[in-house]
Amino acid sequence: MTKEILLDAIALSDLELIGIGGYDPIKGFLNEEDYKSVVENIRLADGSIWSIPITLPVSQKDAASLSVGDEANLIFGGEKYGEIKIESIFVPNKLNEAEKVYGTADLQHPGVKKLFERPEIYVGGAVTLTKRQQPKFEQYTFTPEETKAIFKANGWNTVVGFQTRNPVHRAHEYIQKAALETIDGLFLNPLVGETKSDDVSAAIRMESYEVLLEKYYPKHRVQLGIFPAAMRYAGPREAIFHALVRKNYGCTHFIVGRDHAGVGDYYGTYDAQLIFDQFTIEELGITPLKFEHSFYCKACEGMATTKTCPHGKEDHIILSGTKVREMLRAGITPPPTFSRKEVVEILINGMKEEVEV
Ligand code: ADX
Repeated sequence: MTKEILLDAIALSDLELIGIGGYDPIKGFLNEEDYKSVVENIRLADGSIWSIPITLPVSQKDAASLSVGDEANLIFGGEKYGEIKIESIFVPNKLNEAEKVYGTADLQHPGVKKLFERPEIYVGGAVTLTKRQQPKFEQYTFTPEETKAIFKANGWNTVVGFQTRNPVHRAHEYIQKAALETIDGLFLNPLVGETKSDDVSAAIRMESYEVLLEKYYPKHRVQLGIFPAAMRYAGPREAIFHALVRKNYGCTHFIVGRDHAGVGDYYGTYDAQLIFDQFTIEELGITPLKFEHSFYCKACEGMATTKTCPHGKEDHIILSGTKVREMLRAGITPPPTFSRKEVVEILINGMKEEVEV
């Protein structure tokens, strides 16, 4: 009988991204050698840069029926999405993975919590994607081949990728548009895979991106497309991963702002920028565009950073996606210095609907 491995939502999204070339050069779930090398050195065993272990965790019971050399079907919700040729079956040192990849073993960290919640044995090997998921946002779902073709058709020689798990607020808009002053096109690439429960849902966010692009961005300079991966909240390690994947989608540049992919106080404000200094641009194949923490300055009457604004803290309105979410949950309407009014409207309505459901 053909063997079967059950996938969770994270493994399913990883399988799809491997299959469409989003995780190039990875061709499967990491085998033991690559896993150890990624955890310890931020590189695959062959030396190529890779920062997040892409793993296939299975329970001890399920692992008992598998052997190296087997081919197994990859199943989610009773349906087959792919196949794996098993190269290794191993017990990972999750504590070490947490400390090296997430910089902490604290179970309060949502990425670390998830790491420990997933089953205890890892199965590694090359995969074949046999079926794609029904896209949630069909018109914004592209393979790397497709985005590269779109960028080419638009005549963009340079493309800056923007990762986000939040509705776009004024600081995001500021750094995106600052980049667009010198880069040909913007690939607004929101992550829509699994996120922690208090993040704004992908459906509401997509609506907010649509209205923002319609009203405030030049149409021929921006492409919206979803990034189906799960959020790991791994800060610096995830920033490298986010950049490498956007390179695969055809971006030449990638925005890394304040506390990219961070959560709580686990990472320093610019740790996710500093990690890029360990690698050359040639080796990465994509150029990080690093932005300072941006804010609204009442004296400048506009968005700025300490690089462009001479005024003191008393004039600065510091905003963040987290703060916008907190205000909305407390029934406070975020001011226009935080978020465009159209976005606020969508968020308020969306949150009401979520509460009603
Ligand atoms: S992330 O987890 O996807 O990084 P978020 O959606 O908040 O979170 O951020 C998207 C990008 O915008 C990241 O590169 C982040 O560093 C950057 N960013 C968010 N807020 C600010 C800000 N106030 N100033 C500068 N960069 C910011």
